[in-house]
Amino acid sequence: MGKERDGFVGVFDSGVGGISVLRALVAELPHEDFLFFGDSANAPYGEKTEAQVLDLSRDIAERLIAEGAKAIVIACNTATSVAASTLRSAHPDVPIVGIEPALKPAARALPHGTILVMATEVTLRLEKYHELVRTWGGECEVVPVPCPGLAARIELGDLDAPDLREMLEGYVGSYAGKVDGVVLGCTHYPFVRRHIAEVLGADVRFFDGGAGTARQLRARLADAGLLAGRDRPGRVEFASSLDTPEELALYERFFSLSC
Ligand code: DGL
Repeated sequence: MGKERDGFVGVFDSGVGGISVLRALVAELPHEDFLFFGDSANAPYGEKTEAQVLDLSRDIAERLIAEGAKAIVIACNTATSVAASTLRSAHPDVPIVGIEPALKPAARALPHGTILVMATEVTLRLEKYHELVRTWGGECEVVPVPCPGLAARIELGDLDAPDLREMLEGYVGSYAGKVDGVVLGCTHYPFVRRHIAEVLGADVRFFDGGAGTARQLRARLADAGLLAGRDRPGRVEFASSLDTPEELALYERFFSLSC
């Protein structure tokens, strides 16, 4: 199971956020088939215990692999921090690609800049994040900004509503005019990039891990001889633990949003 080059790539997140990564995956690998699973019934992961995030991530990855996924993308910074190494040890024959806050490209682009890293509480608490700052932060001033409640609010859609704008003002309003860059360290946040930019001011540069994750998937599939060999465009399917027509319509809508 899971080793056919014409098999699908399983992509998962706690909910709609991973769709921002899926967009980058499809752009990089248009001939691959993707099955996206959003665990919206259990979102947000970023406010759960590590044991809970590990259990949820393991269940989803194992189900996708059992269904024939040839590779897995953990399209969630939180689940990557908690579960990636455990999943890789359990499935050494399946390429498993994760995502991390894009501090490396941000610090390279803004070597002496002030950079906000917006992410979940779990992502910012774990050692993986602190190691990332030590390794790539260089001369930058790196400011962690936990955003409790933001992923859950994005799950509801209606991204232009005033309450969401107020939430963003609360997280980053005090940094307006004082920062050079923002790392969107949760895959939900690219969907409110424009809204964050409106709060912070026009000159701020944004970084997220979607494109890097897509390049990493390409490399891992190529190494394993698993790149799709077909000419037709790949298929993209959506599934959710909130298995209602409304939820799946919401996923399709997020997939069509530019972010
Ligand atoms: N989208 C996820 C991430 O990248 C987590 C959001 C959440 O469920 O808290 O961290």
